[in-house]
Amino acid sequence: METQSQQLVAVIEGLSHSFPDGTGTISKMDLDLLPGEFVSLVGPSGCGKSTLLRLVAGLLEPTSGAIRRDPARGVGFVFQSPVLLPWRTVADNVALPGEISGEKRADRRRRVEELLELVGLKDQARRYPSQLSGGMRMRVSIARALSGRPGLLLMDEPFAALDDLTRSRLQEDLLSLRAQEGFTTLFVTHNVPEAVYLSDRVLCLSSRPARALSQVRIPEPTERDPEWRTDPRAALLAREISRALGGRGP
Ligand SMILES: Nc1ncnc2c1ncn2[C@@H]1O[C@H](COP(=O)(O)OP(=O)(O)OP(=O)(O)O)[C@@H](O)[C@H]1O
Ligand SMILES: [Mg+2]
Repeated sequence: METQSQQLVAVIEGLSHSFPDGTGTISKMDLDLLPGEFVSLVGPSGCGKSTLLRLVAGLLEPTSGAIRRDPARGVGFVFQSPVLLPWRTVADNVALPGEISGEKRADRRRRVEELLELVGLKDQARRYPSQLSGGMRMRVSIARALSGRPGLLLMDEPFAALDDLTRSRLQEDLLSLRAQEGFTTLFVTHNVPEAVYLSDRVLCLSSRPARALSQVRIPEPTERDPEWRTDPRAALLAREISRALGGRGP
């Protein structure tokens, strides 16, 4: 049992959380995250999804229950709005976590180059956030979250503010980043087709305080490509998720 849980990236056990004013956000949640897995959280607005990510990141303390994370794997956080430092260039924004952790300058520079190449922003390295499109800013934010080679990437509705085409491109880029870097992803979205396109599992949450209503496995194909977006099996899975959430389907 101990050996098995050591292989897990994170174990959430009987987790409940309330804010000091008594607002209950999470109720008796259990969730294991396996290495390399992509798990999405879907649920009504205000149910506690962002709070759950903050708990997993260690930014908030559970009220009861426990979250155990593999200490050998770091955490990267991508917020809904990219929160970049406007006075720093793209390269210097991506380099920031390495500077804070005291990584050697040469290693840092190599990692920044590698990440900007991976997210397709090599030519934008010297530009400032105000000179970028929304999609580009989100790419910078993803590159920055990956700079410390996290084992766990937490993403809070990262693509919600983007147009459909940019969103689709970033979804595909996220899948190839994951294939190259091997991180586990916990991804919050309101978009059911997006969850079906990206995830290995989708956890459907109730309204506040969030508890797991059901878990839908997205078993195939293991390698996602744009064809999967229009696959009839994907549409059936999306309907199953919408039903679990109490809707009539997308
Ligand atoms: N500091 C706080 N004190 C009290 N209540 C809070 C605090 N922060 C958030 N809440 C409440 O906790 C609940 C959960 O908030 P959270 O941001 O986790 O929801 P969410 O599922 O991410 O919503 P959305 O989908 O709209 O982003 C909400 O009802 C919110 O109003
Ligand atoms: Mg939220």
